[in-house]
Amino acid sequence: MKRVVQRTIDQQFFPVSPGSFAVGSTIPFDCYIKRFNGYAIVIKAGTVLSAELLAKVSRHQNCFVQQSERPAFKRYHNEHVKAGEEKAVEPAAPEERAVPGAEQLPEALKAQEGVEAKIALLYATGSTLLKGCFESGNEMLPMAELTGFGETLSQFIGEEAYALEQFLKQMPPAYSDATHSLNVAVLSGVLGRVIGMSRRQLEEIVMAGLLHDIGKLRIPREILNKADTLEPDEFEKMQDHPLFGTAILKKNRIGNPQIAAAVRFHHEKRDGSGYPEGLVENQIPAAAQIIAVCDVFDALTTERTFRSAYSSFEALMLMKKEMHDQLATRYIDGLIKLLKR
Ligand SMILES: [Fe+2]
Ligand SMILES: [Fe+2]
Repeated sequence: MKRVVQRTIDQQFFPVSPGSFAVGSTIPFDCYIKRFNGYAIVIKAGTVLSAELLAKVSRHQNCFVQQSERPAFKRYHNEHVKAGEEKAVEPAAPEERAVPGAEQLPEALKAQEGVEAKIALLYATGSTLLKGCFESGNEMLPMAELTGFGETLSQFIGEEAYALEQFLKQMPPAYSDATHSLNVAVLSGVLGRVIGMSRRQLEEIVMAGLLHDIGKLRIPREILNKADTLEPDEFEKMQDHPLFGTAILKKNRIGNPQIAAAVRFHHEKRDGSGYPEGLVENQIPAAAQIIAVCDVFDALTTERTFRSAYSSFEALMLMKKEMHDQLATRYIDGLIKLLKR
């Protein structure tokens, strides 16, 4: 979930362990992590806790809840965790906890009550699938699952006019190639819908988002995971990932020209300063420009080792003010419109 950093510490907090939360429950209070400059929300009140989000939160030794929410926390804990421990001999049925695969996803979605739970399920399936792709290092991708997931996700996005916030709540705060790819797919799909894309175009842009950084499979892990600034030769290597991505698409027989163009040109900039070709303005295919805007937005709103994440609003303002020469303003405006819903 994206968060807004509280820069002034004017509230009192108390620590709670991530073990105090139950997957599938709705968290009725905001939950924070400690940051050098204050506290940042990691779980927003009203979020249905997905396994993925809990895994991210569990990386922190403690989370924090505002003192004023102590009674709500106690009620929640008694209802969801203590009660669960008391009948611990009978753990929740595995099918309730397991993440459905892409094939079971449409049925599993129908069974979920409420948009938030459905989005949580989409996130759990999508991030598990993409994590498998990035972690296996295998360039032969599970195409049936990826295509099935892409279809389900684009269909879901196409059905309703969602606000960006409904998806942002499910996005984990820290960066990984898998969740970044999923975020870009979701953002591009939601943006695609607001600018009037057809169902087919939505499917293509969602697939392009899922696969836009797949070329990173050919980038050495020590470069990908480097916390410091990349050396010039490492940066040069990193810039090969759009072309590597194009080659991996070919290897997997993904011949759709829109998807291929979006993957190949998602780092091109309208002023010609991008790569791999240095294309300008409308030489850059529209799908690639959409992915580029969502890529930058997700990068800015995700926590990095070298800086705090920007809030969604801050990120869009920064993009509009300082990147209008490089990114398509109409797509930045599309995201702003979605944020205001
Ligand atoms: Fe990229
Ligand atoms: Fe990216």
